[in-house]
Amino acid sequence: MTSELGRRIARRIALTGPISIADFMAEALGHPTLGYYRRAMPLGADGDFTTAPEISQMFGELLGAWLAERWIAMGQPERVRLVELGPGRGTLMADALRATRGVAGFHAALDLHLVDTNETLRAQQAATLVAFAPSWHERFDTVPAGPLLLVANEFFDALPVRQFHKTARGWSERMVGLAADGETLVFALAPGGTPFAPFLPEADVGAEAEICEAGRAVAAAIGARVSEHGGWALIVDYGRDRSGPGTSLQAVRGHLGAEVLDRPGETDLSTHVDFEALAISAATASKARVFGPIGQGDFLERLGILQRAEVLKARASPAQRHTIGAGLDRLIGPDQMGTLFRVMALGDDRSAAPAGFEPS
Ligand SMILES: C[S@@+](CC[C@H](N)C(=O)[O-])C[C@H]1O[C@@H](n2cnc3c(N)ncnc32)[C@H](O)[C@@H]1O
Repeated sequence: MTSELGRRIARRIALTGPISIADFMAEALGHPTLGYYRRAMPLGADGDFTTAPEISQMFGELLGAWLAERWIAMGQPERVRLVELGPGRGTLMADALRATRGVAGFHAALDLHLVDTNETLRAQQAATLVAFAPSWHERFDTVPAGPLLLVANEFFDALPVRQFHKTARGWSERMVGLAADGETLVFALAPGGTPFAPFLPEADVGAEAEICEAGRAVAAAIGARVSEHGGWALIVDYGRDRSGPGTSLQAVRGHLGAEVLDRPGETDLSTHVDFEALAISAATASKARVFGPIGQGDFLERLGILQRAEVLKARASPAQRHTIGAGLDRLIGPDQMGTLFRVMALGDDRSAAPAGFEPS
């Protein structure tokens, strides 16, 4: 049984022909009424996945300290755009702002902008962050210009990707078409070559590759902003440090793996972020500097998460101490989120190097 959105995509393909995986993802995640990120409440125990800020307050607190330190490194501008891409429930930002209340002048300088397409989540962000009078945006481009502090946790993994397969005649794009029944969505290779071939890695016949144009465009826009107006961005996501062959598109529904083409709009689709591609996009046409990526575990340890956990435990009940310890393990454990999740900073060429990226 497919979804209502699956039937609509099938009708579109029947009328106009196969669509790219990026088009499929854009519909499945962003369709105005039926897209996954437009209608569902994806986060938490009742949703499809949970994220670092939902695991422990320490995550948002330490990222808040990092942002406040960057504001000081920028010379404490009187106004700064504090932007979060894909803020979810607003938990990360609420923890970050609570943790930085004591930084003289920081909150007075902040102009909060949230980039999110999900109405349900926007309502939660509004409730959590009302004291900071946020503005909402569908896209980063509409955030007004000015000095920038930006954070994005698990945002880039939700952006559409194209996929390619290397044939004896060169790279071909993998598309979404229809099975013989005229209803079931199936993968199919485009018959000819692809204009994206120059952007794909050297690889043998049979290899696969993936590129995320949307992610590259956002990274380029961030790089241009921080170069022109000053500022810093912190990107946290699961992914790989180097570009190369291979694909990573995955589907999750109700905390379990699912088929990518099954029940679009009701299924989370995500990919492993190609951090090298983001770094190149951000720094190629601008003077932005790139730090990392490094593992989330190393980054949080350098920012003092072990000490923060001890402080929290000292005034906690035994049950709370257990929760704090379990959250710490999940965030920094090498077999949990500590290595798979990568942290990269983009910044201007006017301020000193950021905390957390010094060589160990
Ligand atoms: C995986 S959730 C992460 C939420 C939050 N950062 C956290 O760590 O809990 C992805 C977030 O990005 C938003 N989002 C997904 N695709 C988006 C897009 N194309 N434009 C803007 N927001 C998007 C979702 O609504 C959601 O808030």
